[in-house]
Amino acid sequence: MMDFPGMEPCVLVIFGATGDLTQRKLYPALMNLAAQGLLPRQFATVAVGRREKTDAIVRGEAKVAGNIMEGELRPKSGVTAFLRRLHYFQMDFDDAAAYQDLKAFLARLDEVHGTRGNRVFFLAVAPEYFGTIAHDLHRHGMATNTGAWQRVVVEKPFGSDLASARKLNADLTDAFGEQRIYRIDHYLGKEMLQNLMVIRFANTLFEPLWNSRYIEEVQITVSETVGVETRGGYYESVGALRDMMQNHMLQLLTLIAMEPPVALDADSVRDEKVKVLRSLRPLTLDDVARQTVKGQYGPGSLNGASVVGYRDEGRVSPDSNTDTYVAVELYIDNFRWSGVPFYLRTGKRLPVRSGEVVIRFREQPGVLYFGQKHNILGPNLLVIKIQPEEGIYLQFNARQPGTQSTITPVKMDYCQNCLQGLNSPEAYERLLADCIRGDSTLFTRWDEVEYAWSFIDRISLAWDQLGREVELYPAGSWGPVSADALLNRNGHRWLLPFQCLLSERPVLENNA
Ligand code: BG6
Repeated sequence: MMDFPGMEPCVLVIFGATGDLTQRKLYPALMNLAAQGLLPRQFATVAVGRREKTDAIVRGEAKVAGNIMEGELRPKSGVTAFLRRLHYFQMDFDDAAAYQDLKAFLARLDEVHGTRGNRVFFLAVAPEYFGTIAHDLHRHGMATNTGAWQRVVVEKPFGSDLASARKLNADLTDAFGEQRIYRIDHYLGKEMLQNLMVIRFANTLFEPLWNSRYIEEVQITVSETVGVETRGGYYESVGALRDMMQNHMLQLLTLIAMEPPVALDADSVRDEKVKVLRSLRPLTLDDVARQTVKGQYGPGSLNGASVVGYRDEGRVSPDSNTDTYVAVELYIDNFRWSGVPFYLRTGKRLPVRSGEVVIRFREQPGVLYFGQKHNILGPNLLVIKIQPEEGIYLQFNARQPGTQSTITPVKMDYCQNCLQGLNSPEAYERLLADCIRGDSTLFTRWDEVEYAWSFIDRISLAWDQLGREVELYPAGSWGPVSADALLNRNGHRWLLPFQCLLSERPVLENNA
C-alpha cells in the first residue's frame, strides 16, 4: 500500500490518553483513518497515562471507543495494524525522570516499526501541564527537530485570557518553535468550514457580491441543545464567551470575512485570517453595554423533557453569574466590510443543535414588485449550513406559477451530507491527518489566538466593570429577550436556523 501523500513514518504520542477526548474523539478518528489506509505504513501510537494499564487494556479501550465488536476485524485490515501498534506507557507528567524512560521506549518503537524518530506529541491534558510536558520533552532531547521532526498538538482552552495564553505560548515555544505547534480548533476540521473558502473563492456567483455594497448583515449562530453536562467545574471559570466565542465563532468569522489569500499554503491563509481579527473594531465600554448579551439558562423544557437550570447543574455555584449564552454585534473596519453588522450568537440549552452562517443581501430598489399586494419579497439569503446538516441554501424571489402575478421566495437547497454514500470525516480525522502530514492550515497560529483574546478580553473586562449580570432564559428557548432587541435596533432580526424553517412561506420569520 502507498503512503498517503506527505505522510511520513512517525509515532503519535498521546499524553492524557485515558481521558475523555482520547476515547471519544482520537481513537475513533485514528481507527477511521487506519481503516481507509490514511495513516503512514510505518506508524505507532503510544497512549501515555498515569494509571496502571497494559497494551492489551488500551487496545480493548480503543476497540470500544471505535465501536468494534470482537471478531469483527479482518487480520489484514488497517485497524488491526493500528491496534497492534498501539502501546501504553505509564508515567506521571511531573516526574522528570520518567521522560528518559519514555525516550528509550520511543527509540525501541522506532527500531521495531521504522518510525525514524518522527513524533507527534498530542497533549490531551489540562493546559497547566503543557509547559511541564513541553519543557521535559525538550530537556530530554525529544523536541530537537534535527534529523527527524517533532510536532506538538494542543487542545483548547489555550489560556483563559490574553495574559495566560501568552504564558502558555511562551512555555510551548521555548520547546517547540511556532512552526511545530499545532493548536486545535476542532471547528476548522469541520467539512463546511473547509468548504467556505471554496464556496467563496471558486464561484463567480458569490465573490463579486461579498462586500458591504451588497450584503446587509451577517449572522453566525452556533446553538446547542446540551447543557454543561459533567463539565460544570470547568465551565464555571470559562463561560460561553471564552468557551465558544473566542475560538470557534471568531474562526468562523475569519473564514467568512477574509480576503482571498495569495496561495493556499498555511501561512498565506492564516495571514488573511489574522487581518480580519486585526480589523475588528475594538469594543468600548459603551459598545459592550449596547452590543453584547450575556445569558444563562434557567430551568425549562427541551424535546418534551424538563431540564434543570444552569445554577442547579453539578459543580455550579447556586448564584453563578457565568454566561451560557452570548451574542455580540461586531464590525470589521476594513474596505470590504465597512458598516456591515456581524451578529454572532452561541448558547447552550437552545431549541435545536445547529451551526449556520446567514448572509443576507441588500434589497433591490423599491420599484416594480415592491409593495404590491400578494407579493412577499423576501431578501436574498445565502445560508451556509455547518451542522447537523452540511450544505448551502439559497433563497431568492420568483414568480409563483398561476394567473395571479404573485412573487414568492423560493429556495435552492444543497445538502452535502445527504448525498448517498458520502460520509463526512469527523473533524479530528482531518486534523490528525494534517498534523501527521505537517500541514498546519487548519490549526490556529499564535497571532490569531492573540488577536482573538484581545477582542474577547475587552468584553469580559467591560462586563466586570459594568457589573453585568446574566440574563436568564428558559432552557429550550432562543436565549435572552435582549438578544432580539440587539438586532431589532438596527431593523434586523435573528433568522431561525434552516431546520426550523419547515414552512415554505414566509421563509423569513422572527424567532419570537
Ligand atoms: C467545545 C466546547 O469546544 O465545543 C463545548 O468546549 C461545546 O462546550 C463544543 O459543546 C461544541 O462542539 P460541536 O462540535 O459539538 O459543535
